[in-house]
Amino acid sequence: MMRKQLDESVAYLQSKGFDQPEIGIVLGTGLGKLADQIENPIEAHYNHIPFFPLATVEFHSGKLIYGTLEGKKAVVMKGRFHLYEGYDFLDITYPIRVMHQLGITKLFISNAAGAINLNYKEGDLMLIEDHINLQGGSPLAFKSVAQFGERFADMSEPYDVPMRESLMKIANKENITLRQGVYVSVVGPQLETKAEYRMLKIIGADAVGMSTVPEVIVANHLNLPIVAVSVITDECNPENLKPVDIDRIIKTAEVAEPKMVKLFKELIKTL
Ligand code: HPA
Repeated sequence: MMRKQLDESVAYLQSKGFDQPEIGIVLGTGLGKLADQIENPIEAHYNHIPFFPLATVEFHSGKLIYGTLEGKKAVVMKGRFHLYEGYDFLDITYPIRVMHQLGITKLFISNAAGAINLNYKEGDLMLIEDHINLQGGSPLAFKSVAQFGERFADMSEPYDVPMRESLMKIANKENITLRQGVYVSVVGPQLETKAEYRMLKIIGADAVGMSTVPEVIVANHLNLPIVAVSVITDECNPENLKPVDIDRIIKTAEVAEPKMVKLFKELIKTL
């Protein structure tokens, strides 16, 4: 990755009017509706942004949306890049570096995840407290990384504590059940076997998904405070595992989505 590419991506977005956003938001699978609430939106399709990863066919709708949300300037990523689509770690985290260079000082991330902790139910939200990277690589493992930050990035507290505390308070006040736990990232796109779900429980995961961790590593590399919320879309019980129904997973994310939108909007008000 090169500084020059990043500068060009950022210059393009600034020329479109992406002016000093404070907050960056990554919207996960089935969680795109927050984008509709951006006021005075300016859109940039991923395919039009210089040096952005080339969107795949099924991903033609991916875009960055700039505007205001609860009175704050924000940039929203509608659609993210996944390893399972064939992108590499640098591709999938490139937008985080772009949003950082545009000026964001806080990053909100959402995703759809399966419950490993079986106290957590379909449709629940889970605030990510910590994570386990099972994706077999790092977005910081490239030659010129030192030009972008500390190679040996600290990960002792990857998720911002003050924003986590605020979000718990907001959830309590709004009567939204907000679990807390450890998110483990896998490559996918296949779902897990029963034996894998047993393993994920043993190693300390509460939820499993196919995203987020690379973005969080890069955000930590950039000293960017993060808050991340999983929408629990399925319960991964190895003793009673049913065949996966991806449409149902997406539907569950959509049903739970208004709670996530509420939490994020209320959190912005506190910033
Ligand atoms: N496994 C991995 N990723 C997921 C799951 C799952 O069970 N549910 C939603 N995303």
